Amino acid sequence: MCGIYAAVNNTPVVNELIKGLDSLSYRGYDSAGVAVFSGNHIERRRAQGKLECLANVLYNSPIDGNVGIAHTRWATHGLPNELNAHPHMTSKVAVVHNGIIENYKALRDFLTDADYHFESETDSEVIPLLLTYFLDRGLTAEQALKSTIHKLDGSFALVAIFQQSPYELYAARQGSPLVIGQSKTGFSISSDDNALPENTEASCHLQDGDLARITQQQLTITNFYGDDIKRSLIARQTQADVTEKAGYEHFMHKEMHEQPKVFKRTLKHYLQAIEVQGETHLSLKPLTKLTNKISRLTVVACGTSYYAGMVAKYWIEEFAGVPVDLDIASEYRYRKMPMNMQSAALFISQSGETADTLAALQHAKQAGQTCISIVNVTNSTMANESDLVLPILAGREIGVASTKAFTAQLAALMAVTLTLAKSNGLLTHQDEDRMLTELFSLDSVMTAVLAQENEIKAISKSLVSSDNALFMGRGIAFPLALEGALKLKEISYIHAEAYPAGELKHGPIALVDESMPVVVVAPNNELFAKTLSNLREVASRGARIILVSDSQGIAQASDFIEHAITLPKATDLMVPVIYNLPMQLLAYYASVLKGNDVDQPRNLAKSVTVE
Ligand code: F6R
Repeated sequence: MCGIYAAVNNTPVVNELIKGLDSLSYRGYDSAGVAVFSGNHIERRRAQGKLECLANVLYNSPIDGNVGIAHTRWATHGLPNELNAHPHMTSKVAVVHNGIIENYKALRDFLTDADYHFESETDSEVIPLLLTYFLDRGLTAEQALKSTIHKLDGSFALVAIFQQSPYELYAARQGSPLVIGQSKTGFSISSDDNALPENTEASCHLQDGDLARITQQQLTITNFYGDDIKRSLIARQTQADVTEKAGYEHFMHKEMHEQPKVFKRTLKHYLQAIEVQGETHLSLKPLTKLTNKISRLTVVACGTSYYAGMVAKYWIEEFAGVPVDLDIASEYRYRKMPMNMQSAALFISQSGETADTLAALQHAKQAGQTCISIVNVTNSTMANESDLVLPILAGREIGVASTKAFTAQLAALMAVTLTLAKSNGLLTHQDEDRMLTELFSLDSVMTAVLAQENEIKAISKSLVSSDNALFMGRGIAFPLALEGALKLKEISYIHAEAYPAGELKHGPIALVDESMPVVVVAPNNELFAKTLSNLREVASRGARIILVSDSQGIAQASDFIEHAITLPKATDLMVPVIYNLPMQLLAYYASVLKGNDVDQPRNLAKSVTVE
């Protein structure tokens, strides 16, 4: 959740640390801090608030040195204030930590009884205090670190600098990611590959149980017991991904507009052109682990990725005839359900590091399931631990609210759906070619929908005047209503809930009055007439309806609605990709109109690496 950055270099590192934290600030942004060897001792600067606040502190009270650690925090234990900000330190050691130390209360009591004094309310501070406890008893830095690690329960990535070894960084990983980059001038360590500096020539992901000792010239990795571990530094490819806003005011805005291109790129990855009797046809590339008869599929994810999974449930059951169990990762990982050894489980995650989804994958793997993951970050822990990795190739997503990753997940899930349909004999070659050809040209339809931005911006004003909103949809539109409500609440802070359209009258309709906006997601499919009846039920109670449908659908409801967003007619495979776009724009403009921080909404972090 939090972001760690550290560097050991032959030149001063504070600028690099701040740049690294800037790239990591999507992981948490309630406080930040750095500690460096300045002269012959460790100096620390910390600040509550965003990175600018730390930059101001450093401007007024500069420090610098060639070895340093840094951290951007997302509070789990203790308020987001300066005292709780990392690095945590004593006169002997400074530490940055990502993860949760589950037994911190017992360790805190133990250290307090031994006369060690805590400054913060965090779980993380037990780490430097335990290290100091062992250093005070004559252990070396490395011995103290091993002894400390053996006492920690929970997940962590940590980096430490020791007063007694001013030219070294120590890093350890158990459950939270850390990557080490090497350049001509030294080494950098980060929670995220993308935050490593441009001059990085090679990098290496630490694995759980790795302890690294890093000097400006050398990287040594052992396990927590001191046995040598061989990990190769792999030469890096140039980062094709641009991390600038390219003229847009927000990353989210830019990422929404990238979606047509991203969708086409992802779909293309799963397709091939084949020659049949002299004619070129589109066909799915074989995905072997998927075509080994799957009689039941479990889909597991969190948040927006979970809603992509819900779309997949509707698709896979309809087109491939395979029953799908859908689960929220944090529930799945602890449920004691019987598992069928022949089943496969599909995990969806943009980051590939979400703690609950990763733990769910490990749980399924232990139970003998074939584990397939759909991820954006292909060198993530989930990708490393899966039997089959299906990349979504969305490029780096910086806006905390997921947009293009959802669309790219849908493209990969289309490939999964049609592959399963084909292997179950439910998709002829002609239909495969026709459907893929239609889907391959969906990018231009998406561009046309995004071009309605100004009308959607005007409609979002009617949401901003309310504290609450309801979303509803049936069938394939239900997950889109859920995703629309999530997007609205997370960036505009308007309380929004989504229901299956038929469910409102079982309770939530009591909330409806003249002040309630209701976004009705109603593609003009075989369920439209049913959704229209539900629309009338809320309209007759005064609800202010925003209808998202095609022109025929809107014509049938015109007497009841306040606003309409007109989309092209679409098949069930196309609907999620197209109908999600106006929902993103509604949320985006509601957030902009309210003057919120669109890319870094309060209380959230992009990568949720704690459970
Ligand atoms: C919402 C959002 C989150 C993520 C969720 C899972 O816009 O981005 O709900 O979808 O935290 O993250 P990943 O996909 O990285 O596992």
